[in-house]
Amino acid sequence: MVGRHVVAAATSAGHSVRVLARATGVDLRSPEHLADHLAGIDVVVDASGISTLDEDASVAFFESVTSSLLRAEAEAGVRHHVALSIVGAAAAPSGYYAGKARQERLLQESGAAWTILRTTQFHEFVTQVLQRPPLLGVHLVPSMRTQPVAAAEVADELVRLAEQEPAGFATDLGGPVEEKLTDLARRYLAATGGHGPVVPVPVPGPMGRAMRSGGLLPGPGALRGRQTFDEWLRAVRSSPGA
Ligand SMILES: NC(=O)c1ccc[n+]([C@@H]2O[C@H](COP(=O)([O-])OP(=O)(O)OC[C@H]3O[C@@H](n4cnc5c(N)ncnc54)[C@H](OP(=O)(O)O)[C@@H]3O)[C@@H](O)[C@H]2O)c1
Repeated sequence: MVGRHVVAAATSAGHSVRVLARATGVDLRSPEHLADHLAGIDVVVDASGISTLDEDASVAFFESVTSSLLRAEAEAGVRHHVALSIVGAAAAPSGYYAGKARQERLLQESGAAWTILRTTQFHEFVTQVLQRPPLLGVHLVPSMRTQPVAAAEVADELVRLAEQEPAGFATDLGGPVEEKLTDLARRYLAATGGHGPVVPVPVPGPMGRAMRSGGLLPGPGALRGRQTFDEWLRAVRSSPGA
């Protein structure tokens, strides 16, 4: 979702970019030959991810990708690792967020030169949620307060940080307007000809509590993205697939 925007932003800023993904023949969980793929690379921007709510699967993914990358980066002489995390996730380490917390901790303890940007959910997150097949025609959507931000703006910030010296935790980035995820899902379905009611579902555990309580909202010192969800939706409608 965000990786292709990072590639576009970095390329238009004049950088040469190498994409490491399974689609380009590289599995980041496998350390073999990873250093060869990183030869000549100055900065790694890790925008990899897994789609799961399962804690074990999330921890296993972020642990293996982060460890493999850090080892390979040290071998290849990469000078800066930039990672993308989620506002509030490390403070609610269950389900998917347990993996993000592990990713952050591995970097903090690595001795490598790193920057972590925590952002809120992307506008595009609603499409990821609605990808799950409806249950008897009903879309089950997590009860969640969110302040979504455009993935393109996240990518611009990642590239800006990649061009700077390693900064540890960067200033959080959130979107301009607080929303409910269920409202976003209804507006997305209405705008794109989707069908079926949207029903809020409480996600269990600390992750779910953070979703409902506002624990994932950006604090007062956070950077604010410009594009609202509705502006993003209008742009999606006028050029589907863009
Ligand atoms: N979505 C959000 O709202 C949001 C908000 C804040 C932060 N984030 C974070 O941003 C990151 C990216 O999220 P996203 O929504 O853009 O994810 P996404 O659309 O699911 O993309 C994940 C990317 O990771 C690659 N990937 C997955 N497994 C891999 C593997 N084993 N080896 C190499 N590449 C692999 C995928 O490419 P291949 O399938 O080709 O391998 C894909 O390019 C995640 O860490 C997520 O936690 C997401």
